[in-house]
Amino acid sequence: SVKKIAVLVGSLRKDSYTRKVAQALTALLPPTLSVEFVDIGALALYNQDLEEHGATAPAAWSAFRQQVAACDGLLFFTPEYNRSVPAALKNAIDVGSRPYGASVWGGKPGAIVSVSPGAVGGFGANHHLRQSMVFLDVPLLQQPEAYIGGAAKLFGDDGKLANASTGEFLQKFATTFAAWVETNAKKT
Ligand code: FNR
Repeated sequence: SVKKIAVLVGSLRKDSYTRKVAQALTALLPPTLSVEFVDIGALALYNQDLEEHGATAPAAWSAFRQQVAACDGLLFFTPEYNRSVPAALKNAIDVGSRPYGASVWGGKPGAIVSVSPGAVGGFGANHHLRQSMVFLDVPLLQQPEAYIGGAAKLFGDDGKLANASTGEFLQKFATTFAAWVETNAKKT
């Protein structure tokens, strides 16, 4: 059966390079996978008081948790902010990890792609995100690693990928990720 992949993009910016890479890569996934872009921009900053001691969790948190929980795998696309993960994406990870014992992340096969206009390709963000995912028990694709640098020069005026070698890399990554999901997705 077709497996559903939750796609999380760590930039809220309309013209985000990270989102463009996410669109280019997900378009290359095989038909064994469907994708759902999960919005992280409307999630209140995580605060336990909003859902404990009789409080009802914010509706946006509950919707987000349900949407991720219903997916079979995870694809993270992150920019790098100050050598780490943007707060919006970290917040989404925190929201999905709670209440204690009810994390939506555990056991879902995942992969990380970092994107930057700079040369280092978001290495710092990529590996900070890996650190959280190890703790959250997400089996992460190890190879190929994806540090997409020079992102401002990868796209044409139409917003589409205009760099052949990056396209080839994204295709390889998409194919490898699909196999990773087949191997590691929970049997239902
Ligand atoms: C950045 N940027 C950045 N780039 C990078 O390669 N390493 C970094 O540590 C940072 N730090 C950083 C902090 C903050 C607060 C901002 C706003 C930006 C630049 C960043 O890569 C650039 O703005 C990208 O365009 C952001 O990704 P999107 O929005 O295009 O997907």
